[in-house]
Amino acid sequence: MLQDKVAIVTGAASGIGRAVALAYAGAGAAVVVSDVAVDGGEETVALVRAAGGQASFFAADVANPSDCAALAAAAVQRFGRLDIACNNAGIGGDLAPTADYTVEAWNQVIAVNLSGVFFCMKAQLPHMLANTRAGSGGGAIVNMASILGAVGFANAPAYSAAKHGVLGLTKAAAQEYGAQGVRINAVGPAFIHTPMIAGMEADPATNAALVALHPIGRLGRPEEVAALVLWLSSPAASFVTGAYYPVDGGFLSR
Ligand code: NAI
Repeated sequence: MLQDKVAIVTGAASGIGRAVALAYAGAGAAVVVSDVAVDGGEETVALVRAAGGQASFFAADVANPSDCAALAAAAVQRFGRLDIACNNAGIGGDLAPTADYTVEAWNQVIAVNLSGVFFCMKAQLPHMLANTRAGSGGGAIVNMASILGAVGFANAPAYSAAKHGVLGLTKAAAQEYGAQGVRINAVGPAFIHTPMIAGMEADPATNAALVALHPIGRLGRPEEVAALVLWLSSPAASFVTGAYYPVDGGFLSR
């Protein structure tokens, strides 16, 4: 499905990003695995290669615009082009009501979860537009939002604001670049078994409360998010852009 395509996945040392990297590589793409966590990133590369795929690690902090530019350039340098990006890196941030939320915690969450997506797209888009100009396909970007891009969550004001912001950014950019061959979409997972929520899952009462939010009766798995990201990144989704797709076990149906 993605033969001869080159993809970037940020936050790919762990959780959903790792699953997306494996899915992309399994579909034939060469994948640039990126993260601030070097060991986990190299582990993802090893998993991709063990499964017969092609991958390479590049360390980048998405909150740093020059890291994002270097990452996009590295994909082109290593694999010759850039067709696909999953801007997935994110942090949970502190939990506190708005009046008690520290400015430092706010700035950190916005820097990684919202500005990070902007910095990555800003760096990726010129390479994808170059594909269009060369007549060799444009590009596809999938930004990792959350159900908290569609609804708020008490005690997560910065995270909720950042993920809502990712949706706005996705929609605006989709309008800008749709006619130039670059599709841009966002996905919204509900609670997914990853290290990000391991602390909450470890407490039986909290875990039961989380499960109860999902009509499907359980939390999600990273692979279930990756399946949607893969589809949105592939030619099968050729008429899909500017959209937000929940993958949420029914969370938003309530
Ligand atoms: P995770 O904690 O397993 O993975 C996140 C990865 O991002 C880590 O490898 C981490 O090192 C990396 N990262 C953090 N800050 C970074 C930075 N500044 N630059 C580059 N990499 C950075 O978490 P998970 O669950 O896989 O999260 C992935 C994405 O999915 C995030 O955007 C998160 O907000 C989103 N998400 C997760 C949900 C969940 O329940 N796990 C629900 C909805 C959305």
